[in-house]
Amino acid sequence: MLIDGKLVSKEILEDLKQKTQKLNEKPGLAVILANDNPASKVYVNSKEKRALEIGFRSYVYRFDRNVKQTDLIKLIHELNQNPSVHGILIQLPLFNHLNAQQLIEIINPKKDVDGFHPVNVGRLHSGLKPYAVCCTPLGIMKLFEYYNIELTAKSALVIGRSNIVGRPMAELLLQKNATVTLAHSKTTNLKAIAKNSDIIISATGKANMITADMVKKGAVIIDVGIIKNLEGKLHGEVDFENIENIASYITPVPGGVGPMTIAMLMQNTYNLFKEAQNAKL
Ligand code: GUN
Repeated sequence: MLIDGKLVSKEILEDLKQKTQKLNEKPGLAVILANDNPASKVYVNSKEKRALEIGFRSYVYRFDRNVKQTDLIKLIHELNQNPSVHGILIQLPLFNHLNAQQLIEIINPKKDVDGFHPVNVGRLHSGLKPYAVCCTPLGIMKLFEYYNIELTAKSALVIGRSNIVGRPMAELLLQKNATVTLAHSKTTNLKAIAKNSDIIISATGKANMITADMVKKGAVIIDVGIIKNLEGKLHGEVDFENIENIASYITPVPGGVGPMTIAMLMQNTYNLFKEAQNAKL
């Protein structure tokens, strides 16, 4: 069965739009783009478009190569103070001369819409409620919920140990009582682990990670990869055509995980807005 991230994300965005219409003050999302890579520009444009469509305020700050770390530090301090900004996102990666971690750490954790600040990472990994959870893994958890995919006692393999996807993903699965394996580039017996897994989440950014001979009959396959081929067509890192009939559930690329990431970004912005409102009461 196909996991339709486009459909699920549409429902979430529609719900947020309805709720936002009823608000006097609107949730505000600030996005910082300090990179000229085309994919990042596309992502930031779609974040802005979605935010405006559902009635949020959107503030996008685009910088060229001349931007200095101190410019961004100053901007983040301003955004932390700005009461109409509820979520701050630094689009990664940044230009090479910039230090992303230093910037992430000066975001007010209560406005850290990506859940990248050490306070939020620490809270997540201690089983405490973070102000926000990283959007891509959170979106994948929503898909499991939507399709009633059972996680308790299932063997779940996460491939890729990034702070953006793999690590938080493993933690969220663990919290839902899955038995989690977090594999990475130094893992030697990936095929054998994969073949025994009920759930595989591939988040390496490398093409051809998961082939049909690695998949157990009835497994759930989540493809986080977004790779452009030579003709400019998007595909994932899972051999979709040959696995579709082996898996019980599988995400397409595009139209699987991608749209959920943006929907979760909007959901997180809304939640941070609500928290900020409640704090004023
Ligand atoms: N670059 C790729 N994915 C993401 C994400 O989820 N958040 C941010 N800030 N940058 C990214």
